[in-house]
Amino acid sequence: MNTIIKTVASAATLFLACGFFAQTAYADGDAEAGKELGYTCLGCHGIEGYRNAYPSYRVPKLGGQKAAYLSLALKGYRDGSREHPTMAAQATSLSDTEIEDVAAYLASIGGDTVAAGGGEQAGLEKAQACIACHGQNGISVNAVWPTLAGQHEDYLLQSLKKYRDGSRSDPVMGAQAVLVAEEDLAVLARYFASLEGLETTRPE
Ligand code: HEC
Ligand code: HEC
Repeated sequence: MNTIIKTVASAATLFLACGFFAQTAYADGDAEAGKELGYTCLGCHGIEGYRNAYPSYRVPKLGGQKAAYLSLALKGYRDGSREHPTMAAQATSLSDTEIEDVAAYLASIGGDTVAAGGGEQAGLEKAQACIACHGQNGISVNAVWPTLAGQHEDYLLQSLKKYRDGSRSDPVMGAQAVLVAEEDLAVLARYFASLEGLETTRPE
């Protein structure tokens, strides 16, 4: 009996480990190689309070974001599946290797996005609908899903609105966003922004 339990347990461990490697294989870039390119990016992403011109919202924090998510987002801008003229211009000439390297660099310069936590209690209850993917502390549980903890509130809010009206399309998140009541969007954005996590990192 014990042996069976052990076998099942180790099969489960193996399964998890394979899943883990399959995810990280997405973006096992070289952080050192991505550093130089990363400086260009921090010209916007590394400036506290820097804004997208129209509509006006703060450029997202990238420091400590998951590398695999960063690389998926960049490929989305490059191939046009995620629309944004400025970011498309940034991503258009990048090779897959450059994308993976710069993603690895940006992921490496954040704060401690493992422990984290904190946050306003008001949004906690509503955020239960999100934690299966975005994590208990807003630190995503899958490398290809974004960490929300500490992200700018206005950036989170406009993203949620875009998923709802379809101007940012993603089958998984789009299906989630339509389930959220309009008046709860701001509560959720405020909650995740109030958690400890992502950072605006500046060039040294
Ligand atoms: C001129 C300013 C500017 C520069 C330079 C810039 N970005 Fe951006 N970036 C933005 C804005 C604005 C957004 C938000 C776009 C949106 O709403 O989709 C963004 C979004 C992103 C996102 C999506 C983040 C998320 O949470 O989904 C990634 C990843 C990203 N940028 C990476 C980079 C990288 C890598 C570089 C350098 C190669 C770079 N950016 C250079 C302005 C800039
Ligand atoms: C089933 C998994 C899942 C659940 C549950 C989920 N999300 Fe997401 N979320 C995703 C994925 C996947 C993405 C990335 C989609 C993309 O590439 O545009 C995402 C993206 C986002 C983004 C954009 C972040 C960025 O950096 O651009 C926000 C904001 C967000 N989710 C908020 C929420 C909120 C709030 C909830 C709860 C109401 C929630 N999500 C529930 C999977 C999920």
